Amino acid sequence: MIETGRIVIAGAGLGALYAALELAPRPVLVISPEPLGEGASSAWAQGGVAAAMATHDTPEAHAVDTVQAGAGTVDPDVAAMVTQVARAHIIDLTELGAPFDRDADGNYVMSREAAHSAARVVRVKGDQAGGQIMQTLIAAVRAAPSVQVLENTQAVRLETEGCTVTGIWITRADVPSAPVLIKAPGVLLAGGGSGGLYAHTTNPPRIRGQVIGFAARAGARIADPEFVQFHPTAFDIGEDPAPLATEALRGEGAVLINAAGDRFMVEEHPDAELAPRDIVARAIFAETQGDRRPMLDTREALGSEVLTRYPTVAETCARAGIDPVQDPIPVAVAAHYHMGGVEADMQGRTSLKNLWVCGEASSTGLHGANRLASNGLLEALVYARNAAQDIASLDALADARAIHPSFPAGGQNLDAAAVKNLRETMTAYAGVRRTAAGLKQALTAIAQLEAEQAADENFVNMCATATLIAAAALQREESRGGHLRDDFPETDPAQAHRTRISLNEALAIRAKVQKELT
Ligand code: SIN
Repeated sequence: MIETGRIVIAGAGLGALYAALELAPRPVLVISPEPLGEGASSAWAQGGVAAAMATHDTPEAHAVDTVQAGAGTVDPDVAAMVTQVARAHIIDLTELGAPFDRDADGNYVMSREAAHSAARVVRVKGDQAGGQIMQTLIAAVRAAPSVQVLENTQAVRLETEGCTVTGIWITRADVPSAPVLIKAPGVLLAGGGSGGLYAHTTNPPRIRGQVIGFAARAGARIADPEFVQFHPTAFDIGEDPAPLATEALRGEGAVLINAAGDRFMVEEHPDAELAPRDIVARAIFAETQGDRRPMLDTREALGSEVLTRYPTVAETCARAGIDPVQDPIPVAVAAHYHMGGVEADMQGRTSLKNLWVCGEASSTGLHGANRLASNGLLEALVYARNAAQDIASLDALADARAIHPSFPAGGQNLDAAAVKNLRETMTAYAGVRRTAAGLKQALTAIAQLEAEQAADENFVNMCATATLIAAAALQREESRGGHLRDDFPETDPAQAHRTRISLNEALAIRAKVQKELT
């Protein structure tokens, strides 16, 4: 056991690093599963940060779009707060050195993305916002003497006394090891979402719901776990994870067609390709299921400019042997963002004392059942700062000595077959289309996998989150946003509320299903 006065931040993406800088000069310890900048979802974000920066735009309009996209369960106070402070965060990031695209007059260049009533996404080099903002933050973190980064380590468990978090157990992330307890005055969870629990995902390989899982195992209340967002236009080129073709391309006029050349979104929604993401994702899924081969066609809208203005997309095309100037890009849906997570109030506080959360691991009420594009990075920034300001009021923050844990032998490598099985189960039964029978099958399969891998805490954390998703999806007998029940296809106004659930409640649902099916 090691005792530290540092605040421990579990995760090393945008929210984690921004919070570490906000907390400076207070000492913090960042638990980073990879070398900084590698493996964080935020570094892979293409679109950018949504913020009402244009003169004709307002935070109020941004809040209205957020509430509308969220399909009835967005907390309007949260939407108002987040959209109101968005501009200040963009200016602060700019001052830190984030190289946002600007026009000749110095105005921010903004992309249009689905369900936004204005071009409102501040971007970097077309489709490189996440990676470039992360580089800016990494440079600042490396220069901040108050921040210690433990690379190649991961959190697996929280230490609690009653309802108070008193520390965190970490292991090596690069090789198996036994966990070491770090006793700390406070813990901020900023370790990403759950996309990698699905067989088709845009998330980096390590992001498989572990953070939500270990927080739930410690007793933290979870909100909205059933709401998982599937991105409509992941490249369908057989890569895992599936590379993203940013929604900004559709904002520029790229269209969705199928193998017969039909622009199928025109029939589906008045906003066609710029309809809310859940609607576009469902339509793409239907085209794929019907063997009609959905594709993103940038040819007319962008021509050869796609190669220079969207370098990440161009690079993926080149790798896959696709020439987007001549041919449309094959696309499919992929799990992209988890609206659910550890329940957080406006200061990022969780239901456990001395535990905060920000970013995709959290559920703040901003996203409802369907996140508005590019509100993810924004939420991470806003809650990282809010949490940091709240944490700053803690007393014992003086001990800035670096810690040097040595990890005893032990632990085990993840069982790749079990992970594959879990991911395929989630895609088949808790994915874009859901039914009671399928969700029950998912719960049974998760329980069996968890029992077989009980000695691997990392895998157990994944199973905890998978259980929460499937159990809450089974409970929600309606369709709303990212949650589509084939057996309850209508939206039920009586269920226009958020879900709050503990892991014990989800496990009780799972046990009941297991009993019913045996
Ligand atoms: C995209 O660029 O399409 C993704 C943006 C987001 O998920 O917010």
